[in-house]
Amino acid sequence: MGNTLTYKILQAHLLEGTLTPGSEITIKMDQTLTQDSTGTMVYLQLEAMNVDKIQTELSVAYIDHNTLQTGFENADDHAFIKSVAQRHGVLFSKPGNGICHQLHLENYGKPGKTLLGSDSHTPTGGGLGMIAIGAGGLDVAMAMAKGTYSLTVPKVIQVELTGSLRPWVSAKDVILYVLQQLTVKGGVGKVVEYTGEGVKSLSVTDRATITNMGAELGATTSIFPSDENTQKYLTEQGRPQDFTALAADPDAIYDETLTVDLSQLTPLAAMPHSPDNVDSIRHIGPIKIDQVAIGSCTNASYTDLMKVAAILKGHKVHQDVSLVISPGSSKILSKLAQNGALAAMIDAGARIIENACGPCIGMGQSPKSGAVSLRTFNRNFKGRSGTLDADVYLVSPETAAISAITGLLTDGMNSGRDLPAIESVDFTFSDQFIVYPEGTNKENTPVEMGPNIKPFPRNTALGHTVEATVVLHAGNNITTDDIMPSDSRLLPYRSNVPHLANYCFEKIDSQFSARCKEAGSCAIIGGENYGQGSSREHAALAPLYLGVKFVLAKSFARIHRSNLINSGIMPLVFENPADYDELAIGQKLVIEQADKQVQEAVILVKNQETGKVYRTLSHFSELEMQMILCGGKINSIKGA
Ligand code: F3S
Repeated sequence: MGNTLTYKILQAHLLEGTLTPGSEITIKMDQTLTQDSTGTMVYLQLEAMNVDKIQTELSVAYIDHNTLQTGFENADDHAFIKSVAQRHGVLFSKPGNGICHQLHLENYGKPGKTLLGSDSHTPTGGGLGMIAIGAGGLDVAMAMAKGTYSLTVPKVIQVELTGSLRPWVSAKDVILYVLQQLTVKGGVGKVVEYTGEGVKSLSVTDRATITNMGAELGATTSIFPSDENTQKYLTEQGRPQDFTALAADPDAIYDETLTVDLSQLTPLAAMPHSPDNVDSIRHIGPIKIDQVAIGSCTNASYTDLMKVAAILKGHKVHQDVSLVISPGSSKILSKLAQNGALAAMIDAGARIIENACGPCIGMGQSPKSGAVSLRTFNRNFKGRSGTLDADVYLVSPETAAISAITGLLTDGMNSGRDLPAIESVDFTFSDQFIVYPEGTNKENTPVEMGPNIKPFPRNTALGHTVEATVVLHAGNNITTDDIMPSDSRLLPYRSNVPHLANYCFEKIDSQFSARCKEAGSCAIIGGENYGQGSSREHAALAPLYLGVKFVLAKSFARIHRSNLINSGIMPLVFENPADYDELAIGQKLVIEQADKQVQEAVILVKNQETGKVYRTLSHFSELEMQMILCGGKINSIKGA
């Protein structure tokens, strides 16, 4: 029986365990990346681990989220990250260089390597044939300190691509179609591996758009083979030596298969407020739009923006539409400026904004109240744009550009316009925004710690009896953004958990933080897919700071579950989902002999008011159980 590409790479990096789905393995981690929003915590943790030098082949600290710098806070964070990066041998990418995933694809990703990033869209690297996984900050700090990462062996879903895309249909439509078929839970515990003849028709940046939004499927990661298109891309980026051809064995066996005929796809949109709420633009109809935002780590590649420029050229953005464009990297922006594409965009009436995450993270460009905003981004959860009552539709760059001209959601296939073929071009490897750590070390580089940077909260070892008051009864699909909002008010405080904790769950229950402070020891009740969305570690750290001991839910999203365990908070799953309805805010729960029960598959939680005992499933691996026992991952590290 042949091997999938996923298992081939995992096997080549395997340090402990066996490749049996559901079991735990430890693999060698070749590379890590961080972005500034999660990175401050990562580097506080790395400092606490007291390591001299990182153990990965390459680690990069990108600054792309909080680049507005309206106060001293962001600048403090950047200086802190730069100083710790230098102390430990990490490359530092200055603000202005671009978005972490686009930059990593261009400059550092390599077929066959493993990459762990403190950002949920790290799977973008799968477009190059890497195993690229998003994780919580502490896992990334550990990967830097030890060069390893432990994970549950995923199942592998095959998405077999046949045919080729028609004009006006693009990679974004492929992943929107897959999301429509598999839903935001469809990839949980799985890697999505793309195969088939149709792969050849997709460039590396097309593939990266698809693997980027594999995060929205809840997948561990997504991956494409490394072939002649990969070689072409790496050559264009000035690093042909990094190419290796990789593919699954022809007789590889997959756990599931979905076949997608690319030639049958039409332009699609994910409607408010979920990336899997997908329909064809033809079916949705010509709704009036107020804003179009093009960019993000999903769709800000050179070819994406050249298509946009070609569509806009000689036309005018509709008078009722605000069009903003943020290129993915400094290299792309420079090339667009040289070849006239930037002028075509500006002449059409586009607003060009910094090549950073920007509006994708709600950092500027919030739409007006009640607006319809078309975005080429990857998420459209309520309020992520910064405007709670805005309707955000996720679309391809082609759809975004043609709609900006017409003022209506427009299916380009019906526009009567031809779409010119876009040729990719050669870039040179450029590193003017990179600060190398050479010549520096821990002794000669002090940590630069401005007043915005507060120590990260630490838990205590699990007690014999855990008593907690229910402080929240939440619904299904709670996102990490619901738990710890991340709008422009709060982004500057990513290194200041005590400040952030005041805003924990504020969108769902404005009394949450006050209730926690009164209760002291707290429990949260959650529905299905609790903690979906971004890898935001703060969604575990703020509850930890507020005294949350355990979350009892119907199911958990993968990264958030790990983040809870890393923080020493127990994620427990109702054995009987109907028990969810019996619990209410204010009730007192107790776990007797918690330090013994945590070693069992079933943990009994007693409702002190009613006397009823609920059976909950822990699903803890040996390592996870050890972390819970000692109060989180950082406490499990010697010397920290
Ligand atoms: Fe940045 Fe948005 Fe991607 S915040 S990393 S562009 S998902």
